[in-house]
Amino acid sequence: MTQDELKKLVAKAAVQEILNLLPEHSLLGMGTGSTVNFLIDELKEYANYFSGVVSSSDATSQRLLSNGFKVLDANTVQSLPLYIDGADEIDPDGNMLKGGGGALTREKIVASLASQFICICDATKLVPVLGQFPLPVEVIPMASAQIQRVLEALGGQVRIRNSKVDPNLPFVTDNQGWILDVKGLAIENPLALETKLNQIPGVICNGIFAIQSANMLLVSAIDQVQKTI
Ligand code: 5RP
Repeated sequence: MTQDELKKLVAKAAVQEILNLLPEHSLLGMGTGSTVNFLIDELKEYANYFSGVVSSSDATSQRLLSNGFKVLDANTVQSLPLYIDGADEIDPDGNMLKGGGGALTREKIVASLASQFICICDATKLVPVLGQFPLPVEVIPMASAQIQRVLEALGGQVRIRNSKVDPNLPFVTDNQGWILDVKGLAIENPLALETKLNQIPGVICNGIFAIQSANMLLVSAIDQVQKTI
């Protein structure tokens, strides 16, 4: 199976999981990325089952709206029963590395409203230790050079992520931040590194999700989906 077929397979399984966990008229938190896009496609026939969806990016909001879902501003809800999202890497404890699509900050915000985090991915995302995938760090643009120096002093190799539209320009997030992609950091203790990076002035958010890790993992491999954590 191709990676896209595996993503579609886990998305289909996620629909059943969501419908089993949530009664009709529930709220839902939705992440960002190609796996989530497959999920939205699979879930669209149940769009009216939910009273509303809080989304983690402009891209996801647009896809939800065009598929008939009601999209709610995060400020209008007090809590969510469930947040569902993909990941770039996930370790056996449910710690994740996220932000390949640049939506890490809003993903963390929406996840923090939720009592349960379901991660959906294909088996290529399973790792024993986080850190092969470059760690995204969203920053206030005026702080990027100083943050780059701090991350290099920690042992990272840092690149400012480029725009896909014009590679001569930086990628700009939904929050007007820039993304520094950091290779070579040893993420032996995800909780400690997430906390440490949050302290650097000008860092908006980093892509380690250990303070709030996944409670449930749905992972597709070959032709089956496993539920773990
Ligand atoms: C976006 C993310 C995504 O969840 C992550 O990049 C996985 O994406 P995909 O489902 O396309 O493999 O964190 O910011």
